[in-house]
Amino acid sequence: MSEQLTNEQINEAGHLTIGGVDADELATKYQTPLAVYDVSKIRDQIRRFKSVFEANGVDYAVSYASKAFAAIAMFQVIDQEQGHIDVVSGGELYTALQAGFPMARVSFHGNNKSRDELEMAVKNHVGVIVLDNFHEIELLAQVLKEQDASSAVMLRITPGISAHTHEYISTGQEDSKFGFDLKSGQADEALQEVLANERMNMLGIHAHIGSQIFELNGFQMAAKKLVEIAANWHDQYQYQPEVINVGGGFGIQYTKDDHPLAPEDFVDAIVKTIKQSAADQNLEMPAVWIEPGRSIAGPAGYNLYTIGSRKDVPGLTSYVTVDGGMGDNIRPALYQAEYEALLVDQPTAKPTETVHIAGKYCESGDILIDQQPLPASKPGDVLAILDTGAYGYSMASNYNRNPRPAVVFVENGESTLVVKRETYADLTRLDQPLPESF
Ligand code: LLP
Repeated sequence: MSEQLTNEQINEAGHLTIGGVDADELATKYQTPLAVYDVSKIRDQIRRFKSVFEANGVDYAVSYASKAFAAIAMFQVIDQEQGHIDVVSGGELYTALQAGFPMARVSFHGNNKSRDELEMAVKNHVGVIVLDNFHEIELLAQVLKEQDASSAVMLRITPGISAHTHEYISTGQEDSKFGFDLKSGQADEALQEVLANERMNMLGIHAHIGSQIFELNGFQMAAKKLVEIAANWHDQYQYQPEVINVGGGFGIQYTKDDHPLAPEDFVDAIVKTIKQSAADQNLEMPAVWIEPGRSIAGPAGYNLYTIGSRKDVPGLTSYVTVDGGMGDNIRPALYQAEYEALLVDQPTAKPTETVHIAGKYCESGDILIDQQPLPASKPGDVLAILDTGAYGYSMASNYNRNPRPAVVFVENGESTLVVKRETYADLTRLDQPLPESF
């Protein structure tokens, strides 16, 4: 039995339940492939983060990094929990607007925000724009002038700390494409530009050092560094940041080989480091903001698939193929990410074989799980892959013109469709046939 499953997640029939609903019933009702979220897990993680700040007596914001999974219903849940969100595109911002999410609690990130996106953000009074580069300072200055508006801003700094994680998901090292470099003085220069612009209200400093991080060290170093920058800016420019935003990146357990700290333990260490460093530097304690994406959405998500074909290569290996794959979860192919799976109608059965869980896409690399121990399975069985809630649906594609799956939220025994399954008609909706003249 997967270590991630607790007894409450198995019902009397011995089936996996999600949010109190039999996963087999969800697969029958909504069809597969299906992304399912246990909403109480989303709420619980946000509340745990909040309680860390409250126990430490500091001002804070828990800002959900919506790139992990953005949908109207998701933003509504975050709003119900009084959370903030960060968006990184006009599309995520549009989704938040459609959800009626309070714009004051939105941060706008991104390393190449377009003029259109900045105009949209300013027009809709987004809470804070996190400035990433000089081009953007200039663009925002123009937009603010044109709209005769002002905006809170933060500066994203590259603190020169590289967290130990997969290369594709490291963002804080010096040669990163994100943020203002510290060493070369870019960050200081950016601060002076922002302070000189009376339409920009410089709220604070931001850094994000990477994702799926398991160690405290990188976060503590980054937190300390941000306070040092703040103290330095205080001395040099008489500027005191109201907010230190340490980004996200708190690692989660995908398989039994992953041993991260509990996400809230990371945050506790960060808050304590900032408190201590601020005291050491005689700096007024700023508010601390975090931007967790994966740790909020990941463990709450399950991907359900129906098993179809099987290939046994005698003496070598076996492939069990499901009705989804790299189109609904690109992470194994892109990052060699690992997951665990189980059969929903016998989640506790003893494995009798180890198989590859293959997807249906025309690519050899479309393997969702390389080595999955499983009991005997047959076509029509429903397989659940666990902890798929972050960067699964949000990175989905229509490769091979497969429709993207539906998304369902489940809580207290009730399920509700929050993103419809794409239809074939959706797939050709934007296609234009050739004109006769062509
Ligand atoms: N804040 C900023 C500025 C970020 O760039 C990110 C993630 C986060 C917060 C949230 O990080 P999280 O708590 O989710 O680790 N597609 C990759 C992950 C890319 C993360 C990019 N930035 C994956 O599937 O692993």
